[in-house]
Amino acid sequence: MKEIFIAPSILSADFSSLYDEIKFLKDDGATYLHFDVMDGHFVNNISFGSYVLSCISKKVDLIKDVHLMITDPEKYYLDFVKAGADLITFHYEAIKENEIERLIKKIKESNVRVGISIKPNTDVKKLDPYLSILDLILIMSVEPGFGGQKFMENSLNKIEYLENKRKENNFLYKIEVDGGINDLTAPLVIKSGADILVSGSYIFKSKDRKNAIKLLKGE
Ligand code: DX5
Ligand code: ZN
Repeated sequence: MKEIFIAPSILSADFSSLYDEIKFLKDDGATYLHFDVMDGHFVNNISFGSYVLSCISKKVDLIKDVHLMITDPEKYYLDFVKAGADLITFHYEAIKENEIERLIKKIKESNVRVGISIKPNTDVKKLDPYLSILDLILIMSVEPGFGGQKFMENSLNKIEYLENKRKENNFLYKIEVDGGINDLTAPLVIKSGADILVSGSYIFKSKDRKNAIKLLKGE
C-alpha cells in the first residue's frame, strides 16, 4: 500500500502558543506543515504572512507547505521562499492563463517545489497543460478562506482524474487535498488517489493528535 502523508494546517492552531502547538507534530506522524496565506482579497479572510513562517521554519523538522490564497502570488512567493518554504502552491484562479507556465518555471528556479490549486468550481481539466511540470496539485474540497467547513464530494472525481492521468503518463506530481478532512472523509480521498491530506480543525481540535493523524492515514 502506498504511503499517505499528513499536512496539519496551522490555521486552526492556537496562535498564543504556536510553537507548543506544532513542536510535537512530527512525532505524532505528520510530514508537512501547511501554511494558509490569505490576503483578504483573493479570499474573504486575512491570515498571516511570511514573518510567521520565518519565526518557526527552522524550529520544526517538517516540510513547509505554503498555500498562497492571494491575488498576486508572483509578487510575494519569494518572501515565503526566503522564510523557509519547501513547497509553494498558488491558485489557478489568481493568474491569467497565459502566465501560468512562466510562473511555475520562475518559482522552480528558486529551488522549491511548485504546486497549483483549484477551487471547488474550477474544472480540473484546465490543469492539463501543466501536469508534466508540476510537483503538486492541490484540490480544494471546500471554498478557500476558512477552516472547519464541510467536505465537498465533487473533489473526489477530480482526484480520480489526476490519479488516472498520472498513471497513464507517468507524471510525478503529488495529489494533495484540502478542506473538511477528518476520519470519515480521509478514506474517500485516499481511495480516489490522494497522497497528502491537509487537515486543520480535525487535528488541532483533537485531544489525541497522534491518534487523529493515525486515523487520517488509515493505520
Ligand atoms: C481553507 C484552507 C485549509 C483549512 C482546512 O481555505 O486552505 O487549509 O485550514 O481546514 P479544515 O481541515 O478545518 O477544513
Ligand atoms: Zn490550505
